[in-house]
Amino acid sequence: MGIAGFGTVGRAVARIVAGGVHPGLRLTHVCNRDVARKRVDWAGPDVVWTDSFQALVDSPVDVIVELIGGHDPARAWIEQALAAGKSVVTANKQVIAHGGPALLREAERRGRHLLFEAAVAGGVPILRGLREGVAGDRLRRIQGILNGTCNYVLTRMESAGLTFADALAEAQRLGYAEADPTDDVDGHDAGAKLAILAGVGLGRVVRVDDIPVEPITAVAAVDIGYARRLGCVIRQVARAELLPGGRGLHAAVRPALVSEASTLGRVEGSRNVVVVDGEFGGETAFSGFGAGGAPTAVAVVSDLIAIARGNAAPPDGWLPASGEPSPVAREFEAPHYVRFMIDDRPGIVASLARVFSHHGINLDAVLQEPGWPKAELPFVMTLEPCSSAAVAAALADAARFDFHVRAPLWLPMFVDRPDAAGGSSPE
Ligand SMILES: NC(=O)c1ccc[n+]([C@@H]2O[C@H](COP(=O)([O-])OP(=O)(O)OC[C@H]3O[C@@H](n4cnc5c(N)ncnc54)[C@H](OP(=O)(O)O)[C@@H]3O)[C@@H](O)[C@H]2O)c1
Repeated sequence: MGIAGFGTVGRAVARIVAGGVHPGLRLTHVCNRDVARKRVDWAGPDVVWTDSFQALVDSPVDVIVELIGGHDPARAWIEQALAAGKSVVTANKQVIAHGGPALLREAERRGRHLLFEAAVAGGVPILRGLREGVAGDRLRRIQGILNGTCNYVLTRMESAGLTFADALAEAQRLGYAEADPTDDVDGHDAGAKLAILAGVGLGRVVRVDDIPVEPITAVAAVDIGYARRLGCVIRQVARAELLPGGRGLHAAVRPALVSEASTLGRVEGSRNVVVVDGEFGGETAFSGFGAGGAPTAVAVVSDLIAIARGNAAPPDGWLPASGEPSPVAREFEAPHYVRFMIDDRPGIVASLARVFSHHGINLDAVLQEPGWPKAELPFVMTLEPCSSAAVAAALADAARFDFHVRAPLWLPMFVDRPDAAGGSSPE
């Protein structure tokens, strides 16, 4: 085998393979730009170190492991490797989310493998779990915490009372967040992973760009406190759910309130979890380290072992090989949390209640903690289950009031509802 990209994950893969735990695997080539500075003795005396990807393709390796990341030239390199008759293992969510079906078709045409377990939730074996572990079920919904940076930030805001900015700075200092965390906090990283999960688990082609994403940046310390009062925590939730009657699916990545005691609510720090909901088997959770060199390398090495043992599932069926992309519905039905920041005066709650009522939305509760300045007073309204479109319309309507100091923050509440019909309720 040869590794392209000797960074965090590439080195960790080499460590495991060079350690000899898996005798069927042998590292013979490493490719990286300016490779001289990457050379290490522990990888073995016979390893060929090269700057040239073509040299890797021309070598006799059976499998090329792509770990350079990003779109370019990673996608072209994977195509080149498959065209040369190599199997490929990659951790590259961007390439698979955007071009996975075409690459899998090419792998199938060539009689080779393309495996990408590490591309979603790092060390959590979710893709094989979906394809094989719950193959007997018919899945309706997949939801997960897929971005360790966001989860670290939100759980530190909770446990240490940090502001968003301080929690993010701490995550960067400790290596849990990139220097530029935009893709993480905006939801694009989790969106790419969700597109892959929807393909493998729900059998739908989903265009990454069709998945709406909402940043976690608007979540403030005050929301963490109000969420706690409601028995909830705030998480960046990636969620894909089939709509009844084959009408496409709902998919989105957004901050949401989840019950403190739920599987999603209990995930701390940089860990990931994926909860799948099947028609027959109910809920099944997969959790573990979603990032980090060693856990991610385990997923890569597991793919290599599957190929070496000859029991890697064939490329067809990992992602839907063809078919039109499924329409992604933006609207969804859920109870909602709305936090207002107002310049206080009499009659505000009544005015807002009238607006919600006008849009057919029932209030569930009004919460207001004492001790805030009247000129910048936060308070929360929770809404009974209603469509997200109705909430958006009501808040657009309420924007005409001049008591807002800041635009309201509204979040869905994916909480257990004991009164829900059938007893099968969301997380
Ligand atoms: N790190 C994680 O926790 C994690 C988790 C899940 C999935 N992944 C995925 O795993 C992949 C690798 O991530 P990583 O964290 O290992 O990244 P990384 O530390 O940045 O390593 C990438 C390596 O590839 C090399 N490289 C980049 N572009 C190249 C090019 N055009 N030609 C030759 N070499 C090139 C880099 O060389 P330089 O040193 O010169 O930059 C570096 O050694 C990515 O797809 C990532 O999304 C990572």
